[in-house]
Amino acid sequence: MRAIWITKPGGTEVLAVRESTDPQPDRGEVRITVRATGLNFAEVMARQGLYPDAPKPPCVVGYEVAGVVDALGAEVTGLEVGQRVLALVRFGGHADSVCAPVERVLPMPDGLSFTDGAALPVNYLTAYHMLFRVANLRRGARVLVHMAAGGVGIAVLQLCRTVPDIVTFGTASAAKHDVLREEGCTHPIDYRTEDYAARVRELTGGEGVDLVLDPLGGRDWKRGLRLLRPVGQLVAYGFANLSTGERRSIRRMAAQLTGVPVLTPFGMMDRNHTVSGVNLGHLWDRSDLLREELAALLDLWRQGAVKPRIDGVYPFAEAAAAHRRIGERRNIGKVVLVP
Ligand SMILES: NC(=O)c1ccc[n+]([C@@H]2O[C@H](COP(=O)([O-])OP(=O)(O)OC[C@H]3O[C@@H](n4cnc5c(N)ncnc54)[C@H](OP(=O)(O)O)[C@@H]3O)[C@@H](O)[C@H]2O)c1
Repeated sequence: MRAIWITKPGGTEVLAVRESTDPQPDRGEVRITVRATGLNFAEVMARQGLYPDAPKPPCVVGYEVAGVVDALGAEVTGLEVGQRVLALVRFGGHADSVCAPVERVLPMPDGLSFTDGAALPVNYLTAYHMLFRVANLRRGARVLVHMAAGGVGIAVLQLCRTVPDIVTFGTASAAKHDVLREEGCTHPIDYRTEDYAARVRELTGGEGVDLVLDPLGGRDWKRGLRLLRPVGQLVAYGFANLSTGERRSIRRMAAQLTGVPVLTPFGMMDRNHTVSGVNLGHLWDRSDLLREELAALLDLWRQGAVKPRIDGVYPFAEAAAAHRRIGERRNIGKVVLVP
């Protein structure tokens, strides 16, 4: 099989496509011939040495694939060789062949392309889980989402449209604002040229928002907390602020880490605030929950309520360009890799 290896932490030059022997499915697993696999921000951070959950390099990362089942392990029922599927894998997805436990493999609906199938699992599960399981999004809520033009951000905007009267505030570079509006964002905010917190306050008459979805981390978590009105909730789900630039910087990491707010239950109680954390990669043992949410998302896809926005499709040999596309903040929507 061929796979994209992170040979050591560093810039995009550390990526290499290598051949190795095909994996064999264990009991309860199927092997999938991968036709498309998603590239996520986490995997860019893994290459930079900033993602503690990633395997130690040299390694192959990749959380999600779409492809065709080509072998069944012992005791597999409900799936057949030749079936089109999408799957969540805990690493190893950036390869043309991968094994996955049957409980994290779902048949793809007819009409869903491999590219869109590979773009759905991580981004849409993260968005769905935050909005509907963790935050219990209700009619009329005000939602602030950062990195709004990225894969998760666009999934959040599309899912917010499935609830009436949601008002969304999305931060992204100005060049991406037309797309944000197309995706239903009520108030795109250019965080590069204006103070997003001041702008949200202005737009809400000083009241603030009900829900902040923050994958930036550090000082932004503090700012997000200050933007919550009573009964508001902050969902922390990433630490992109660690990753500015191509490589790891200890100084930048220290500055961001010291900016993390210190919270107490008293403070939460007094302000009627909730702080939640979401890490899909740590929900791997809750396949029941992931499956249920992924099935709900596929239903929403069938109804036309969600549709991945593909920024670009890159052959494995151009993985470095795909990583740069995200690292240089140029992507709008999902970056997909194809063998
Ligand atoms: N906890 C979880 O389970 C989970 C799951 C999936 C993703 N996440 C997190 O969610 C966030 C979004 O992920 P994604 O895959 O949707 O992102 P993505 O599609 O890769 O989005 C990248 C975009 O984010 C913006 N951005 C803001 N700060 C950035 C920075 N420091 N470096 C590079 N780009 C930055 C850039 O656009 P603009 O500059 O135009 O805004 C860039 O184009 C990440 O922090 C990721 O780790 C968490």
